[in-house]
Amino acid sequence: MKTSIGVGLIGTGYMGKCHALAWNGIKAVFGDGPKPVLVHLAEVNAEIARKKADEFGFDKSTGDWRELIGDPAVEVVSVTTPNAFHAEMAIAALEAGKHVWCEKPMAVALADAERMAAAAKAASRVAVLGYNYIQNPLIRQIGQILADDTIGTVNHVRLEMDEDFMADPEALFYWKSEASSGYGALDDFGVHPLSLLQVLFGRPTKVFAHLSKPYADRPTREGTRRAVETFDIASVLFELGEGVSGVMALDRSAWGRKGRIVLQIFGSKGTIVFDQERFNELQLYVTSDRPTELGFRTILAAPQHAPYDRFIPAPGHGLGFNDLKIIECHELLKRIAGQDARVIDFDIGLGIERTVHAMAQSHHEQRWINIA
Ligand SMILES: NC(=O)c1ccc[n+]([C@@H]2O[C@H](COP(=O)([O-])OP(=O)(O)OC[C@H]3O[C@@H](n4cnc5c(N)ncnc54)[C@H](O)[C@@H]3O)[C@@H](O)[C@H]2O)c1
Repeated sequence: MKTSIGVGLIGTGYMGKCHALAWNGIKAVFGDGPKPVLVHLAEVNAEIARKKADEFGFDKSTGDWRELIGDPAVEVVSVTTPNAFHAEMAIAALEAGKHVWCEKPMAVALADAERMAAAAKAASRVAVLGYNYIQNPLIRQIGQILADDTIGTVNHVRLEMDEDFMADPEALFYWKSEASSGYGALDDFGVHPLSLLQVLFGRPTKVFAHLSKPYADRPTREGTRRAVETFDIASVLFELGEGVSGVMALDRSAWGRKGRIVLQIFGSKGTIVFDQERFNELQLYVTSDRPTELGFRTILAAPQHAPYDRFIPAPGHGLGFNDLKIIECHELLKRIAGQDARVIDFDIGLGIERTVHAMAQSHHEQRWINIA
């Protein structure tokens, strides 16, 4: 078994720090697998790169990400830069023979996502996307509840994802307001609920979407105003296989919502409710409960829900967002070692991208789109 693996990190913002925490913490949490050696870190310039390398525990630093890709000691590359860079960086890393752990969404253009999936196949390297929410032990537990037929035949799935970081009409225009970042809530956001759908049910077979912009323009740092190019709100109808109906509502300008991903699964014998803002608990309603005691019961995350036990031996104490990234990192290393792993790789991720682009097409053409 490989005893170490050389890590490169590109980008050190919100997600860059999250990946760095995962690479630093994984060995202490799981104990198994190769020890990550933090080799090289890249940022937009040498000064930021050096500062962040010192903070995150990386040895070398560079203001040119291509230098990191060319480093033979780097075996796996974390790509945590804005969406527009994912394709170029991931493909360059794969072509250099590195494994890739790339943040979602996969790419802005569908053609780029296709090139990324092709590059991963051609390089025979592991390429995995940052769909951390699928790693929640309680999302695995939902899969188990469904497999056990506890809520019977599923007939309706409802997904919502809301945050309020774009809710202020006077919030500065930034890269997420630019068309170069994608459609907006749909690919920035929608891919997360779609990743949950993917692991629990697979891909929608047809979609109908409506996208909207709550604010036409935003102030710039220069004191001017700039037209917003992305859609902060998306409403989608979808169908899963065998006629299961679905609704997905996305809003990144929803005051008061901080990290809400609500999943409701309705079946012939019960209902499951999950909310990411309270992600250490599940609500379960089953008709088989005593008629005098019908109502939702709360299931608290506990060591029985692996891999919660690798973090905390006590039930009800709760995991945190960064812990999901540590689990994701562990699944990535399992896949690199050739083991079964719970990951959304570039191949499956391409399916999510196709779904998102079909939703955007549906909005523009104002009709249902079947997904092949
Ligand atoms: N998985 C999740 O839950 C999740 C959450 C937030 C963001 N994301 C994704 O992570 C990615 C980054 O988002 P973020 O919120 O961390 O953004 P951010 O703006 O906080 O960080 C991006 C970083 O990339 C650096 N960067 C930009 N261009 C670069 C270049 N050419 N070379 C090296 N570094 C460069 C920036 O300086 C910055 O430090 C996006 O694709 C976003 O969609 C995922």
